[in-house]
Amino acid sequence: MSKIILTGDRPTGRLHVGHYVGSLKRRVELQNSGKYEKIFIMIADAQALTDNADNPERVRQNIMEVALDYLSCGLDPEKSTILIQSQIPELTELSFYYMNLVTVSRLQRNPTVKSEIQMRNFEASIPVGFFTYPISQAADITAFKATTVPVGEDQLPMLEQTKEIVRKFNAVYGETLVEPEILLPDNKACLRLPGIDGKAKMSKSLGNCIYLSEEPADIKKKVMSMFTDPDHIRIEDPGKLEGNTVFTYLDAFSRPEHFEEFMPEYKNLDELKEHYTRGGLGDVKVKKFLNNVIQSELEPIRNRRKEYQKDISYVYEVLKAGTDKAREVAANTLSDVKNSMKINYFDSREWLEEQIEKFSK
Ligand code: TRP
Repeated sequence: MSKIILTGDRPTGRLHVGHYVGSLKRRVELQNSGKYEKIFIMIADAQALTDNADNPERVRQNIMEVALDYLSCGLDPEKSTILIQSQIPELTELSFYYMNLVTVSRLQRNPTVKSEIQMRNFEASIPVGFFTYPISQAADITAFKATTVPVGEDQLPMLEQTKEIVRKFNAVYGETLVEPEILLPDNKACLRLPGIDGKAKMSKSLGNCIYLSEEPADIKKKVMSMFTDPDHIRIEDPGKLEGNTVFTYLDAFSRPEHFEEFMPEYKNLDELKEHYTRGGLGDVKVKKFLNNVIQSELEPIRNRRKEYQKDISYVYEVLKAGTDKAREVAANTLSDVKNSMKINYFDSREWLEEQIEKFSK
């Protein structure tokens, strides 16, 4: 069976290094691996509206920011179809039929939805649209017959939900939909990159992100202010790696080449870690190294972004062409779904003839 990728992001802000190591970098590798017949990258603006209903302007503005981030990271419109979710009404239609296959209590048990409800203070009154977004996400995935969904581990519950919908649909209406597999990042540190303050989640509202479009001086300031081991007071003290954000970032970003280039006195990260835990290695030195590593990774991305920013009409055309192409695919799936459910009354004379026959008796 041919392999098809679908993944996406909510356009609620510019993308940051957490997105980069957690998914963007991987997507570009997958794109260039030649192993996938089709790749769809969705800007999930309709999903973003499920918790930004009162702020559509935020979503509207960030669609272009996210598209710029995609292109500057190396997503290539010749190989990957970039699309805007809300412009594909077939997805909404699919969601509506899938809703019949999911119970309220099943949605309430979804751990990602649970924690988001808490984070957004939705406990007292949860918007129905937000509550049902896992179903809409199942529509996103199945509309493109995706076999492979590369996302972070926070999306595991969404994939579970999607699989259940697929199984239920196929069992009730006949084999129609494809069951997708999640593809998690292979580097542990990339599963979830913490904020620069050491907090588990990197988020705009906490002000603890490093953005892909960030200028070098700001990156440096952020790296130098990063949370480390609070008990590592004097250089001679042994340092702790656990919960030490600087080392988590090094796990995610550094490669042996970086040591050769910026810190030849160590062969690799293991040696650096060993010295740090033994004592005698100061935080500032490690931070300076991390700064060099991150700068060298982000510089080409930032430069490409500046180029694309000079040609926004081009990015617009990429989005429009990608969305048109994706819409055709989704329309085909919707047609399959309606056929399986036998709600295709006007597609052929089948239903009419059946009814004539029935009433002629
Ligand atoms: N829920 C994802 C996020 O918050 C975005 C998303 C929407 C998505 N639809 C998707 C991811 C389909 C993978 C597949 O980042």
